[in-house]
Amino acid sequence: MWKDSYKKTRLERIELLKEGKYIDDKDYEYLKNSEVLSDDLADKFIENQISVYGIPFGIATNFLIDGKEYVIPMAIEEPSVIAASCNAAKIIKASGGFKTSLDERIMTGHISYYNVKNIDGAVNIINSMKEELIKLANDSQPNLIELGGGAQSLEVDIKDEFLVVYLHVNTLDAMGANSINTMLEVIAPIIQEKISAEKLMSIISNYSTHSLVVAECELDIEEKIGKKIEMACRFANSDVYRAVTNNKGIFNGIDALALATGNDWRAIEAGIHAYAARNGKYMSLSEWKYENGKLYGRLEIPMAIASFGGSIKINEISKISFDILGNPDAKTLARITACVGLAQNFAALRALVTVGIQKGHMKLQIKSFAIYAGAKLEEIDLITEKLKNAKHITIEDVKKVLLEIRK
Ligand code: HMG
Repeated sequence: MWKDSYKKTRLERIELLKEGKYIDDKDYEYLKNSEVLSDDLADKFIENQISVYGIPFGIATNFLIDGKEYVIPMAIEEPSVIAASCNAAKIIKASGGFKTSLDERIMTGHISYYNVKNIDGAVNIINSMKEELIKLANDSQPNLIELGGGAQSLEVDIKDEFLVVYLHVNTLDAMGANSINTMLEVIAPIIQEKISAEKLMSIISNYSTHSLVVAECELDIEEKIGKKIEMACRFANSDVYRAVTNNKGIFNGIDALALATGNDWRAIEAGIHAYAARNGKYMSLSEWKYENGKLYGRLEIPMAIASFGGSIKINEISKISFDILGNPDAKTLARITACVGLAQNFAALRALVTVGIQKGHMKLQIKSFAIYAGAKLEEIDLITEKLKNAKHITIEDVKKVLLEIRK
């Protein structure tokens, strides 16, 4: 049903979503009328609110993940990201789609102490209090416990001059910052009473190493391209300048989906970047290998994405995004997000090692350039048509064409 959907109009795409039962009547009206967050609601989200900043909201098609078809909602200002996702997902689908795995979804919070008088003694005391501390933490969150979540384990470690207590919590479908921060604030003074130390702080960590997700794909591809993609991965692992850009391409997908679903993409990004440097060197998050005629791709990342809590589903577009995805729980959303990241990476690498990024990207960027050059809506398509075969396009080229059109 999605064939050529990008050649259709905005309203036709919304009709398709309705026909395919991805959205209900309320979502349909909201999208059709291009509604956005009301000022009243926006004023409740942040402080000193003065307006609402619009970011285009679109869909990427062709995703086959663990045998199920998905349409991916994406909020993104950059041209060619959605096209790249559709393109990569189409190629990967033809080879069987993505496979994912995820073992656990546990968030971590920590309390740090300094000026600890007897470090070894303090570690022993905290270790002997583990069960009591976990119980106290859980007693502060009866709702979370009732739903089956809660603190599961507690660790203590020494990091330079700091004594650190880590609390690992099953926050179910939420990122869980509020629950974890409350738990930590409950147990921090109790620990402090027993050890001789000062408390520095207690806060959730966005480094969610107990919430790892893996997305994989295996595809048929021309040997020359497959080998170059593998080499591109080795290059990223050799040169941090390349690794950062490689990973930026992955975030094109991850951030767009995180933003569309109302998630805290800064927290997700910070954790994943730290994971890219887990071996003491910032490296490619993705792995690509060409073996026995197949290109094998893998992305392993910590994924603290949530389907509940924060501003999720309060912003109507976030709710619509969940509807489009079939209302996944947090674990399923983590799996989907990793696949979108891997797809973006594949599309970019494929372009980079073949025709270069400019060809596909610039073709789609002409519209942004035209807006920047001051073109009116009815002039944008004319400019795009005139420049569609140009190899390199600058803003000056677009301005020249605009002047010609207006002559
Ligand atoms: P193409 O092969 O020239 O286009 O790709 P095509 O017209 O032959 O279309 C191929 C497929 O792409 C289509 O298949 C669609 O699935 C999709 P079809 O449905 O026709 O059978 N497609 C589109 N989907 C939605 N809207 C569109 C659209 N056009 C094609 N308008 C394309 C053109 C841009 C897709 C390709 O060149 C590509 O994937 N390039 C990568 C672009 C990219 O990565 N952009 C992100 C911004 S650049 C960046 O920030 C990251 C980077 O620095 C990261 C890094 O360095 O690793 C690059």
